[in-house]
Amino acid sequence: MFGNAMPQPAFYIFKCEQSSPPGMPKPSCVNQSNADLFQYLAQSLMQKGIIGTVQPIRTSCLNRCSLGPIMLVEPGHFLYVGLTKEKIDRVINEHIIEGNPVNEFLIPEQFWGDAISPKQMMNMAGYR
Ligand code: FES
Repeated sequence: MFGNAMPQPAFYIFKCEQSSPPGMPKPSCVNQSNADLFQYLAQSLMQKGIIGTVQPIRTSCLNRCSLGPIMLVEPGHFLYVGLTKEKIDRVINEHIIEGNPVNEFLIPEQFWGDAISPKQMMNMAGYR
């Protein structure tokens, strides 16, 4: 019975697809020069035959806009910043396929502190 079960993905890749209108002072992850990065990511996964077990997902702002373009790889909360096609290639080959996160492309620690659990946050905010 379980032999026919549809396997869950091994990875989810959340690519920020937020764009701001021209002239907005706040930076965003998508502009005219990099608008094809999600398509590049999805096509690269397809070409390698791993699109089913690696699920690319378009997402909106993940609140690290000044470091964009960004994408979050789960599991593990690996946030890659300053993306280019070359960086996407290396993340797919080294992290997704070989299992070695590309540390040099990850967000600096000062911008990605340890997570606060929902219970901790409720306590901090005075909720019970
Ligand atoms: S616009 Fe991408 S993180 Fe905010």
